Amino acid sequence: MAVRSPQTSAEWSAYYQLRYEVLRQPWQQPVGSERVPEDEDPATVHALCLMPTDAVAGVGMLQSAGQGRGQIRFMAVAPAWQGHGIGRELLGYLEEVATQLGYAEIVLHARQAAVPFYVRLGYAIVAPSHTLFGSIPHFLMSKELAQ
Ligand SMILES: CC(C)(COP(=O)(O)OP(=O)(O)OC[C@H]1O[C@@H](n2cnc3c(N)ncnc32)[C@H](O)[C@@H]1OP(=O)(O)O)[C@@H](O)C(=O)NCCC(=O)NCCS
Repeated sequence: MAVRSPQTSAEWSAYYQLRYEVLRQPWQQPVGSERVPEDEDPATVHALCLMPTDAVAGVGMLQSAGQGRGQIRFMAVAPAWQGHGIGRELLGYLEEVATQLGYAEIVLHARQAAVPFYVRLGYAIVAPSHTLFGSIPHFLMSKELAQ
């Protein structure tokens, strides 16, 4: 597998499609709800995980959160590939880029079901945060990056 930024228009389409299918469609959210203005920020980094077949198995993004911090958002692995190390690869890639960009810390708002994944990869719960779509509790989590 390879983790890198989307390059072709087909890869960008597959990138947003997977984000929609995993994080929006199961809650009957409209197409387009998977995109945010920060996607277009030049400081934002997008990552996708490509399998040898060119299938996109996972996606994630890193944006600036100010004050020397990066924020990871929209981590999504295709259901068929979950539990095979793809989330770990994506997170590792985004953390490496965050270190190169000089961020000292990563923050994120994790869905309750994903909290054990982030704990496994070194993140700590800071506080409960918002509830998405009236039903998905989130937790603010953070991890300091080695400089
Ligand atoms: C959460 C998600 C991104 C994790 O990606 P993944 O590819 O399934 O996870 P990995 O296989 O890379 O797991 C890495 C480690 O975390 C552990 N882990 C992953 N999900 C876990 C869970 N729900 N509970 C406990 N441990 C978990 C794995 O066992 C693995 O640890 P190990 O090396 O000791 O076996 C992915 O499952 C997903 O997209 N879920 C649905 C959408 C979602 O919740 N996204 C996050 C929004 S905040």
